[in-house]
Amino acid sequence: MTTIHDVARRAGVASITVSRVINNSGYASEDIRQRVLAAVKEMGYVPNRLAGSLRSKRSKVLALVMTDITNPFFTVAARGVEDVASRAGYTVIFCNTDEDKQKEQNYIQVLMQNQVDGVVLVPSGSDSESVETLQQNGVQVVVVDRHVSSQKVDQVRCDSLNGAYELTKLLISLGHTHIALLNGPQNVSTAADRFTGFNRALADAGLDTASQSVIFGAFTRASGAEMARQVLEMTPRPSALFAGNNFIALGVLRALEDARLRVPEDMAVVTFDDLPESLVISPFLTVAAQPVYEMAARATELLIERLAATQVYDFQDIVFPTTLIVRKSSGVKIETLK
Ligand code: RIB
Repeated sequence: MTTIHDVARRAGVASITVSRVINNSGYASEDIRQRVLAAVKEMGYVPNRLAGSLRSKRSKVLALVMTDITNPFFTVAARGVEDVASRAGYTVIFCNTDEDKQKEQNYIQVLMQNQVDGVVLVPSGSDSESVETLQQNGVQVVVVDRHVSSQKVDQVRCDSLNGAYELTKLLISLGHTHIALLNGPQNVSTAADRFTGFNRALADAGLDTASQSVIFGAFTRASGAEMARQVLEMTPRPSALFAGNNFIALGVLRALEDARLRVPEDMAVVTFDDLPESLVISPFLTVAAQPVYEMAARATELLIERLAATQVYDFQDIVFPTTLIVRKSSGVKIETLK
């Protein structure tokens, strides 16, 4: 682990000077400040709030870093993390990044400075920068819901590719040949995998993937409404919409209502992520449901197992299946749903 002395050597200054610069205390010329800050960034140095000698003690604190605390998907994930962590004697810090890389990196720095033992991370992209920063500073990490480029980290997720394949196959079986995929950000693995599954189902059915409509936006209601408005202006208009997740679907439904279009009579809609039964009285959305509680609980168990581990281990990539729940929004005849 990088120490203050390593940074001092790299910057060519005394350790006390490094301390002054990173704590903004005492004088240091601009040239020295820049040299010290450059060395801190290059070496991934994180000042520890507690003396190094305490690092061997566990804080018994974990963190869940997620991308949208308002989405019931992540609320249920938080429930899964907290249930497993508290049973094992850990407390949990919850962090919300809004799919923003800089916010994620800021949280990672704060969590390390506050000595958390481990992090369950929903990454806001597919790169491994946050994973590597945590690992370089001795903090255990497990990636959940999405996957990243690193092969040296445990990952627990759902099979977005196959879930998207099944949703698209259902729409094709109902006669739809022009389907629009309104998706999340292309650099997020769940959106990328859903795009791949969508395309593979079209190709397997002999449909021209180039003639389909695909828009990459954000996993938000506002983006869902905007993407829906764009495709409703297309000629010919798609007859079915595949919303990349539940919040995109909510925005799509808003846009369809504003356009006085009925679901499924005028437009079929399918999506990912069932909403919790506690929130929806009579669900009508056709979804690829993800077992998010189980995913988050398993990720936390894995993290706690790693914290107790005394030997080197193989990293795991645990993939849960989605469950296809066919409801009215797909256009399937009601009598077949009973
Ligand atoms: O609604 C949340 C789901 O959609 C998660 O899988 C998240 O990654 C987004 O893709």
